[in-house]
Amino acid sequence: MFLRNHWYVAAFDHEIGRKPFARTILGEPVVFYRTEQGAAVAMEDRCAHRHLPLSMGKLVGDELQCHYHGVRFGSDGRCTRIPGQEQIPRSAKVKTYPLAERYRWLWIWMGDPALADPAKITDFHWLDDPQHWGAKASYLHVEANWQLVVDNLLDLTHLAFVHDTTIGNLALAEHAKVQVTRAPSNVVVTRWIIDREPPPTFQKVGGFAGHVDRWQIIDFVPPAFLRLDVGATPTGTGAPEGRRVGGIGMRNLNAITPETETTSHYFWGQAHDFDVKNPETTNRIFEQIRTAFHEDVAVFSAQQRNMETLPGAPQFDIAADAGTIAARRILSRLYDEEQGARPVAAAE
Ligand code: FES
Ligand SMILES: [Fe+2]
Repeated sequence: MFLRNHWYVAAFDHEIGRKPFARTILGEPVVFYRTEQGAAVAMEDRCAHRHLPLSMGKLVGDELQCHYHGVRFGSDGRCTRIPGQEQIPRSAKVKTYPLAERYRWLWIWMGDPALADPAKITDFHWLDDPQHWGAKASYLHVEANWQLVVDNLLDLTHLAFVHDTTIGNLALAEHAKVQVTRAPSNVVVTRWIIDREPPPTFQKVGGFAGHVDRWQIIDFVPPAFLRLDVGATPTGTGAPEGRRVGGIGMRNLNAITPETETTSHYFWGQAHDFDVKNPETTNRIFEQIRTAFHEDVAVFSAQQRNMETLPGAPQFDIAADAGTIAARRILSRLYDEEQGARPVAAAE
């Protein structure tokens, strides 16, 4: 299941340059490049002549020349040249995709181009606000369906078991006060862990001596954006009432882009609001989270393998699934709405 009429992160802005770059998104092979002026272009990675990936070709000025028979396509997808012939058939064109650059990411719109409004891009400004936030972002390839990644980030009890050497400890699973807030296209899971030991990462980067009040506020925006407001202050400071002083605050930022039904692109970053101009702090935090995320990736792929081996095998729900279930409901409603709108989109 893919939701098409949404912006997705396709790449880091620095990944796209004057060399064709291939990436499959929502099951469609796409080739990216930049024009001589630096504008990003995304087109179907399939030559309209005989299907060779255009990413095997090369740029000639602002046009992409197919590696096989040298046919060229302009940045609007229209064929501009066929070696040895004057006439260019009307069908000689490839699909192009709307793009936008924001927060150091290149965003792509895979659905009806008439609906591609950049104002709808989900806010990730923490990744590009060096005055207020130290931040570092990265990418993971995931051998699992994108919804498994969404589930994972909406239920942070797993930190107690999967990430007990970094960001987790048992207090997260046993002593969290959890509230799930639902809106038509949004789920917020708020978790407070009051007066407990800080987990190893928080001890390392926050220098806490005693117990902390820790928050995890997970903001889900469909189809697959999860912005986590996380942090801790020494117990009794008053963080639950809004006085976040003397501790650490971070944003864990996640944008998941389906590659296929069984694989995903996982763009993520970590931002912090203390010691913001110190790259060593940024790196230290980033490395801790990266360790944890590799642990998650191993979980996703193992789940996916079992789901493929035993399709439709039964499962059951627990209280901690409340956020996950709410998000899946939204996704399935949006999917039904998009399917209902299909004939309109197809008429484009
Ligand atoms: S396959 Fe691209 S020019 Fe023939
Ligand atoms: Fe995790």
